Amino acid sequence: MDINIITLFPDMFQGIFAESILHRAIRRGLIEVRIIHLRPYGIGKHRVVDDTPYGGGGGMILKPEPIARALEDLPDKGHVVLTTPRGRLFRHTDAARLSAFDTLTIICGHYEGVDERVSELFVDEELSIGDYVLTGGELPAMVIVDAVARLIPGVLGRDTTISGDSHYEGILEYPHYTKPREFRGLAVPDVLLSGNHEQIEAWRKMMARKKTEETRPDLLGGFSQGKTCRSEGEDG
Ligand code: ADE
Repeated sequence: MDINIITLFPDMFQGIFAESILHRAIRRGLIEVRIIHLRPYGIGKHRVVDDTPYGGGGGMILKPEPIARALEDLPDKGHVVLTTPRGRLFRHTDAARLSAFDTLTIICGHYEGVDERVSELFVDEELSIGDYVLTGGELPAMVIVDAVARLIPGVLGRDTTISGDSHYEGILEYPHYTKPREFRGLAVPDVLLSGNHEQIEAWRKMMARKKTEETRPDLLGGFSQGKTCRSEGEDG
C-alpha cells in the first residue's frame, strides 16, 4: 500500500516509521510511506499556508491552494482522508476498510480548521480519532496509519494474530497471562494450565464478554461510560 501524508510537521513522523513493525513493513516493501511537507506548496515568498476566516472569529484556517497543489503533485492520491475532530469516529471497521486501498492519502488538519472547499473537492472522508481536540491532525494520522498498516497481510509477524484482538469481533480482548505462574500473590487461572482447549476457549469468550460489559457496554448495544441513560431528577 502507498501511503501519502500531507503535513506541516513532517519531522513528527520520523519516529513511527523508523521503528518496530511499521519500519519492518516499509523495509519489506509492504507499505511505502511518503511524507509531504505542505509548506513548500504555500503561497508567495513566505510560503503562506493559512489565513484568517471569512466572517470573523478566532484562529487561522488552512488555505485550499497549497493543499490542492500538494495533492495534484502526487502520482496517485487514491483514497483521501482528512483528519479533523469534526470527522466520523475512526473504528476498527474503518481500519479494515481502508487497508484494502492501494493508495491512501491523509491530509493532516491544523489550526482552527481547513477551508471547507478542500473537503468538498478532494476529500473522500473526514475522520476523527476521538471526542477530544488535539493540537493537530498528525497524531490522528499516525494512529490511522498504524491501525490500517497492521491489517495488511504480512505486516504483523507470523506469531501475531489479529483474530483475537480487541474490536476485531466487536468486543474487547480476553485477559492474557505469561510466566511466572504466580506473581505477587496472583496466580494464573487454572483453566489456562489445564491443556483443555475447549475449556480455555469458553473461558476466554466469557472473560472477553465480561470485560466488554464492564468497560465498553456500548459495544454490546448498551451505554458507554460517561453517558447516562437519563440525567438525575429526570422523570420516567
Ligand atoms: N485534529 C485535532 N483533534 C483531532 C481528533 N480528535 N481527531 C482527528 N483529527 C484531529
